[in-house]
Amino acid sequence: MEDTSESDLNHESLIHDLNNVFETITEAAELLSSDIRWKPLAATLSRSVERGKRLLGAIPDRTPNLANILEDAIQSVTDYCVAARKPRMRFVRQVAPDIHMPGSAKDWERVFANLFLNAAEISRQPGRIDVTAQRTEDALLITVSDNGPGIPEEILPRVFRPNVSTKAPTSTRSGLGLHIVASIVRKYAGRVQASNRERGTGAVFSIHLPG
Ligand SMILES: Nc1ncnc2c1ncn2[C@@H]1O[C@H](COP(=O)(O)OP(=O)(O)OP(=O)(O)O)[C@@H](O)[C@H]1O
Ligand SMILES: [Mg+2]
Repeated sequence: MEDTSESDLNHESLIHDLNNVFETITEAAELLSSDIRWKPLAATLSRSVERGKRLLGAIPDRTPNLANILEDAIQSVTDYCVAARKPRMRFVRQVAPDIHMPGSAKDWERVFANLFLNAAEISRQPGRIDVTAQRTEDALLITVSDNGPGIPEEILPRVFRPNVSTKAPTSTRSGLGLHIVASIVRKYAGRVQASNRERGTGAVFSIHLPG
């Protein structure tokens, strides 16, 4: 008899099936780690699995402390650079240790990982990413800037819209990263702006959050 219930297509069942994918990667990472030469790459795979589980909600989220969230996002992009054989980015932070973010840590990890990843993907040399966070009486201002080529002027006004991308078309959809960033910031009643540095080159993203 055919079972037509929809429960097999819900989020929980997706977590279940993706956990099977993660299990395979975890097993492969464990195998790799038995060879000293592949140990660092095995650790990269294991961290990526943890990240995937965290984003999926399959393991508990962390406390939304900005300094810790930035560490996770930096590690995520550094892992990408190592695995993709891209030059590593240097991160310079001016962030107080006790800034608490609203909502969930995984939302903010997505925001910063997308911003950092864009800078890393676009950079051809070992670039630099600066992150600042300042609290005023009634707002939190976070900036992420890089020293890459800057955002092409023709797409700058619509860069947060979905499907706006200068990446070569592939089988997967591009132009979603900054849309995700804007959606998450909006979810917390904030706003995000994109611009280019006035002098020299590089993109600047500013996030304003109330409270
Ligand atoms: N730091 C940056 N420096 C220069 N250009 C940028 C930067 N960040 C984004 N862009 C430009 O904005 C476009 C849109 O970015 P977005 O993250 O939304 O999509 P994507 O990176 O192209 O694809 P996806 O994130 O979905 O893999 C990029 O294709 C790029 O042209
Ligand atoms: Mg992107």
